[in-house]
This record gives sequence, C-alpha cells and structure tokens, in this order.
Amino acid sequence: MKPLPVLVLCLLLLMQCGKKESGDATPTPAPTSPKTPPSTTLRQAAPFPMGAAVNINLLKTRAAYSSVVKTEYNSVTAENAMKFGALHPSEAVYTWTDADYLVEFAQQHNARVHGHTLIWYKSLPNWVTNYPGNTAAWENLMKTHIQTVVAHFKGKVAAWDVVNEAFEDDGQLRNSIWRQKLGVDYIARAFEYAHQADPAALLFYNDYGHEYNLTKRTAILDLVNNLKSRGIPIHGIGLQMHTSSNIANANLANAIQTAAQTGLTVHLAELDIAMNRDGVATATFTPALAAAQKDKYKAVVQAFKALPAAQRYGITTWNVGDADTWVRGYCSCPDWPLPFDENYQRKPAYDGMVEALH
Ligand code: XIL
Repeated sequence: MKPLPVLVLCLLLLMQCGKKESGDATPTPAPTSPKTPPSTTLRQAAPFPMGAAVNINLLKTRAAYSSVVKTEYNSVTAENAMKFGALHPSEAVYTWTDADYLVEFAQQHNARVHGHTLIWYKSLPNWVTNYPGNTAAWENLMKTHIQTVVAHFKGKVAAWDVVNEAFEDDGQLRNSIWRQKLGVDYIARAFEYAHQADPAALLFYNDYGHEYNLTKRTAILDLVNNLKSRGIPIHGIGLQMHTSSNIANANLANAIQTAAQTGLTVHLAELDIAMNRDGVATATFTPALAAAQKDKYKAVVQAFKALPAAQRYGITTWNVGDADTWVRGYCSCPDWPLPFDENYQRKPAYDGMVEALH
C-alpha cells in the first residue's frame, strides 16, 4: 500500500503551502530549520509543563516578551524576584510587589509558579551576611525567612527550590554562611521548615553540574537519597542545566536518568545551551551553530521526555530570548543560548524542542 502515504503526504504539503500563502509573508525557511506551524506552542506540544524564568521588569514593559511567556509557557520561575535579597531586603521588611505581579500573571494565563529560591549562598542582603546573632538566632533567621515566604505564597506557588547550590565543584559541601552558622544539616531543617509552612508544596534540591561533573553529581545524589531515607520532606531534584554545545548528548541523558533514579520528580530548572563557551569576543551565531544547538535542545528534551510521566515535573529555560540571557553578563561575551532570538522569533533550537516533544 505504498501509493497511499505518498498521496497523503502530497496533500498535506499542499495544505501547508495554502496556509502559508494566505497567512504571513515569512520567507520559505531553510530545510534544516523547518518553521513550526504557528498553531503549535511549547505548552501545547508538551506532555509536561514547559517553563521560563521571567524577568519581571521585561514582563511589565516589553510586549513581545510577555506575549511569548503567556503563549508558549505554562510554568514560570522568577529569575530573581523570589531570591532572598529581593524579597527580604532588611530584617523587618519583605517586598512582595514583583513576585506577586508574576504570580498574578501566571494565574491569569493558567501557568504554574515555581519558587526559586529559599536558601542560597548568593543574593543575600547585607543584613544577613553581617548578622551578629548566635546559633539560635541564625536558626530563627533561616526558619522565619523560609516560613514567611512560603506562607505568603501558599496555594499559589506549587513548588520551591528550598536549597540551591549547596555543593562545591569538588563535591564538598559548600562552606556557605548557612553551613558556617548552622552546621551541615541546615539543609534538612530548611526542607522541614518549608514543609511546615505549606505541606502541599513540592520541595526541591537544585544544583548544577550533573551533566559534566560526576563527583559533584554523586555528592548531590547521595545528599538527596540521604534526605529521603531519613524521611525529610524532599520531593524533587532540580538540574539547572546551564549547559553548552560541547557536552555530549550521552552525558546530558545520563544526568537526567540518574536524577530520576532517586525516585524524585525531576526539573530541568534553568536550561540554556551556551554556544560560545570559549568566550570569543568576535563570535557570531552562524547557521552551523544554530543547527548544532537545535540538536542539543532536541537531545535534552528527548531524554527528559523518556522519563516516567510521574517524574516529569517539567523543563524551564533560563529566560526567554537571547537578548535577556544571564549568560552574556556571566561570560562578558556574545552568546545565544535560548530558544528565541533577540526579537523573540523562534530559533532552530525551538524547533528541536518541538520535534522532540512530538
Ligand atoms: C542568575 C540570574 O539569571 C541573574 O540575573 C542574576 O544576576 C544572578 O543569578 N543559578 C541559579 C540562578 O540558581 O538563580 C542564577 O540566576 C543563575 C545560576
């Protein structure tokens, strides 16, 4: 019955052509980068939540940005607005405005809110780094921050990165101010405090390096397995996945699979794929780089999609368009790590994600 599929294919192609002519005047795309039908968005295509980290200022002021966020994504993370320094700038002051704006935006557009992050060694206000209290006062500081924030968003924020980046690259527990003041088991207590404040929230440990640092990955997996075995309320593991073109697909898949072996739900929490890891100041985003990036995005999404459905918390890219990425600031170099370009047009990377989702 060979002729039938060929005929169907021809008809489909004709229909596609018809749509194009009656629609916009987009030039015919290159064969390596088929344009996804405009009717498909990430949130429609995915059998799990698709998210983006959101810059609240851009959400408020840039129409193209907010339009992409609401049409493409059904999960959002505040890129910075829920960090300690943003929410709790002095001991008696909490500033909810930006974070509340994001929560309201998400509610209006049927998107989940992922909370990032309660306890981290960065983004700490001076009043915390200079806090003079004794051990009991520090314990109270951590508990009060966690519980005030989680309670404020109770029922609105589905899940929290309770502790972020607690490990060094050599697999040792980072000598953060939290560890110095509260001892190594501050992590377990942070989860317990968060759980008390919102027993329905899913609680995550979030970190980077799973896909390229076996020592660190092992330390992270040992930690979460230890917490689980002690009955500490941990439900998820976040793999940041700030990754790059030079990481092999097998390593990406391995990181995702080993995280799932903990039995926890898995979040690719901060995905971006840097294409200029050497920081070349004159680098440009060539079609070859775009194609390589597409393959990488596709591989990541395919590996994630292969997990058991119950363990697929979702995939979140770290911001939306290449103009907004933190990578450019971090490396002080040109880079194009996201699925949308500077003008919020879909890149081949976007098509790679959709191809993997179908
Ligand atoms: C980054 C933001 O993207 C920047 O805007 C900010 O200046 C610094 O933090 N790991 C994390 C994120 O967990 O919170 C970081 O976000 C990127 C690395």
